[in-house]
Amino acid sequence: MKIAPSILSADFSIMKEVLIETEKAGADYIHVDVMDGLYVPNITFGPPVIKKFRKHSTLPFDVHLMIMNPERYIKEFVEAGADIITVHPESTIHLQRVLSLIKDYGIRAGVSLNPSTPLDTLKCVGEDMDLLLIMSVNPGFGGQSFIPQIHKKIEEASAWIKEYHPHIELEVDGGVNLKNINMLRNTGVDTVVMGSAFYGEMPLDVKMAEIRKSLGEQL
Ligand code: DX5
Ligand code: ZN
Repeated sequence: MKIAPSILSADFSIMKEVLIETEKAGADYIHVDVMDGLYVPNITFGPPVIKKFRKHSTLPFDVHLMIMNPERYIKEFVEAGADIITVHPESTIHLQRVLSLIKDYGIRAGVSLNPSTPLDTLKCVGEDMDLLLIMSVNPGFGGQSFIPQIHKKIEEASAWIKEYHPHIELEVDGGVNLKNINMLRNTGVDTVVMGSAFYGEMPLDVKMAEIRKSLGEQL
């Protein structure tokens, strides 16, 4: 299973070390949460900051855009070093257009669904997406609890992907920890985002070993 640590929960004053340690620990992606204070009630950072982060990591940058009208900034995020860009359907009038725009830059395009957004929203864009990011919390903040009702939606998403769009990577974001990660893997989730459960007190390689062990994976 792929582990995508969310740097939102890391110490921003030592981001260079955080990025180097995260890569050494064996993470698969760096999950980068971009918030504009409009689509979600929090503000983080934009392309210039991601460009600086890019200098200290060779891992794929999994950029999660929680911003209104993301089409305005796709070029800037690509130039800053994004490898995957994920957008929310409610943030744009023309979802399919944004997905094709992202893919035109030669990177992977994802769609993220909030807890209250139904899977049906994606029926017509399955072919246009490379990744589906299911939110298991309401976006905006790290450290929230996994909403149990979302499990059913993850099962449905997994079945939909298997049947119609096996090329889509299934990722889950929000409240993922050592207690629920196995359940997610068993439901067909390919990748989990981990923020507060990853960037805690422990050295990151020890934390990653603990995660891999709980999944029964080789270190
Ligand atoms: C929430 C963000 C998440 C968040 C996850 O809006 O999209 O990526 O950082 O953090 P945890 O794992 O602490 O829920
Ligand atoms: Zn995220």
